[in-house]
Amino acid sequence: MVFPLRLFCAVAIAGFIFVDGGGVNIPSTLDGPFEPVTVPFDESLRGNAVDLPDSDPRVKRRVKGFEPEQISISLSAHYHSVWISWITGESQIGYNIKPLDPKTVASVVRYGMIRQPLTHEATGYSLVYNQLYPFEGLQNYTSGIIHHVRLTGLNPNTLYYYRCGDPSRQAWSKVDSFKTMPVSGPRNYPDRIAIVGDLGLTYNTTTTISHLISNKPNLVLLVGDVTYANLYLTNGTGSDCYSCSFPQSPIHETYQPRWDYWGRFMQNLVSKVPIMVVEGNHEIEEQARGQTFAAYSSRFAFPSEESGSSSTFYYSFDAGGIHFIMLGAYIAYNKSEDQYKWLERDLANVDRSKTPWLVATWHPPWYSSYKAHYKEVECMRVAMEELLYSYGVDIVFNGHDF
Ligand SMILES: *[C@@H]1O[C@H](CO)[C@@H](O)[C@H](O)[C@H]1NC(C)=O
Ligand SMILES: *[C@@H]1O[C@H](CO)[C@@H](O)[C@H](O)[C@H]1NC(C)=O
Ligand SMILES: *[C@@H]1O[C@H](CO)[C@@H](O)[C@H](O)[C@H]1NC(C)=O
Ligand SMILES: *[C@@H]1O[C@H](CO)[C@@H](O)[C@H](O)[C@H]1NC(C)=O
Repeated sequence: MVFPLRLFCAVAIAGFIFVDGGGVNIPSTLDGPFEPVTVPFDESLRGNAVDLPDSDPRVKRRVKGFEPEQISISLSAHYHSVWISWITGESQIGYNIKPLDPKTVASVVRYGMIRQPLTHEATGYSLVYNQLYPFEGLQNYTSGIIHHVRLTGLNPNTLYYYRCGDPSRQAWSKVDSFKTMPVSGPRNYPDRIAIVGDLGLTYNTTTTISHLISNKPNLVLLVGDVTYANLYLTNGTGSDCYSCSFPQSPIHETYQPRWDYWGRFMQNLVSKVPIMVVEGNHEIEEQARGQTFAAYSSRFAFPSEESGSSSTFYYSFDAGGIHFIMLGAYIAYNKSEDQYKWLERDLANVDRSKTPWLVATWHPPWYSSYKAHYKEVECMRVAMEELLYSYGVDIVFNGHDF
């Protein structure tokens, strides 16, 4: 596995799709083929990115007891449903830590179209995850209680108010709001979708997120590499280049509190605007007994079940007239594997009269001239490209190379 040098991590690439349903004919892949266009890399964007430290007020725990924090929204497969996620209780890192019991805190969301009273209620489930390193001198981590609640029966293009928490503890979040996606159809699109990859939690991340917020997106796509907690040892010491700085460690360590820092920093945006995440190589985070992707799979809610997938690593959803397909580059994808079979089914079910745009996303690009990752995912390209071509996928978004 290649972990890109942090030196190249100065900027997360943020882009926006502006979709205009008002009669403008934007050519799609179905009108192609078109001449390929390449854009040279802007060297001036290279620099050294510095992580926000533990002491930054934006990453500190601000709630008391079992009050919700790290609140986020993600979409379900269709406009009428969304997921609300949050964390209660304190994570622990150290020796002989004892996981919290997720059953001790309820997962409730109250919501409605007016701020008060919030007339609807939904309940969900909760979990904790552990990041265990059974090696001399390494510390273990256990998360706070992670809650996921799915709201259903929502109207399209509608502002909803909500708060989350545990009524029996009087531990509620403040009231926040989000807007649902429009009904799928050739003239219905969210106004702006922000696409970002390789985000991290550096001072440059704060610039990227401020830029993103000022552009008022209706939806955020994060195409892999989230917190870079795996550039740290379990004692909280980090480095731009993990393998150069820490060649002695018995396993590639992580510092999981960085995930909590990231969740706190991002709440301001993602408690109001839905975020859809797909895994990158920095989310692998191998731990004891070969377990991988524990933080990624536990912390985010995915419309996997709703889109016929049995995995957090690949899923699909509609945002108005766009069908998004999120693919996993770090799990099996060959023809005989579940992911490939799911992709075949998902593509076969796409109704281009409802979602004329078909957009696919995964972390590492199939085509790249960047030396460090050259032809790194050629096997995935060979396995899946023909299938995506045959259904006329319009746009592919990747991260990874920068
Ligand atoms: C971490 O957890 C593993 C597995 O339960 C255990 O073997 C190990 O002793 C723990 N390490 C510490 C430092 O508590
Ligand atoms: C990234 O942030 C640093 C300050 O930490 C700044 O000097 C640099 O210009 C920023 N890079 C970009 C590409 O904005
Ligand atoms: C963490 O461990 C590394 C490697 O053993 C060491 O160099 C560093 O000083 C430690 N940091 C702390 C804060 O203990
Ligand atoms: C399947 O995928 C792996 C990579 O994940 C590759 O090594 C293997 O040769 C592939 N091919 C087939 C036909 O299974």
